[in-house]
Amino acid sequence: MSRLSFVAQDLSDTDRLGATLAQVLPASSVVSLVGTLGAGKTYLVQSLASALGVARESVVSPTFVLCQEYQGSKKIVHVDAYRLHDEDEFLELGPQEWFESEGLTLIEWADRVESCLPVERLEIRIEVLPADARQFEMHAIGGSMVAALDALRASL
Ligand SMILES: Nc1ncnc2c1ncn2[C@@H]1O[C@H](COP(=O)(O)OP(=O)(O)OP(=O)(O)O)[C@@H](O)[C@H]1O
Ligand SMILES: [Mg+2]
Repeated sequence: MSRLSFVAQDLSDTDRLGATLAQVLPASSVVSLVGTLGAGKTYLVQSLASALGVARESVVSPTFVLCQEYQGSKKIVHVDAYRLHDEDEFLELGPQEWFESEGLTLIEWADRVESCLPVERLEIRIEVLPADARQFEMHAIGGSMVAALDALRASL
């Protein structure tokens, strides 16, 4: 199945989702993150990165630098499209190189640059629920992420 919904009741559930994603994502993957301010896009990237051995505090919203790289047991490229004026500005960052490289590319505010994203990707939409709960709606766009989503479903 190409969709999976997961409700995190608290931060530790989101940590578990991030750690499981870190395990199941193929070596070269693109993850598009969509959700309002404070939904938990960066928090999920921190959870995933820390499972790959990257210090959590070194992962911050790359709002001003637009793009950051971390080297864990997999390479992570972390992008934030919030402050980009248009899609051309995104293309000037050279995203094709990230998409083709070995490693994970995680893009916050991906809905702002949707037409520049590869078809083969995992999209994660985050909804804020009462208290500290969050709903993560995951969608394997293109066929290559379906197996990863199945593995995620089995491991969560
Ligand atoms: N279950 C949860 N999962 C993720 N974050 C949570 C959860 N519960 C509370 N939070 C809090 O919500 C906030 C999410 O902030 P975060 O910076 O990750 O959002 P964001 O979607 O990246 O926002 P922005 O669009 O500003 O970059 C953090 O302060 C985090 O501690
Ligand atoms: Mg953020």
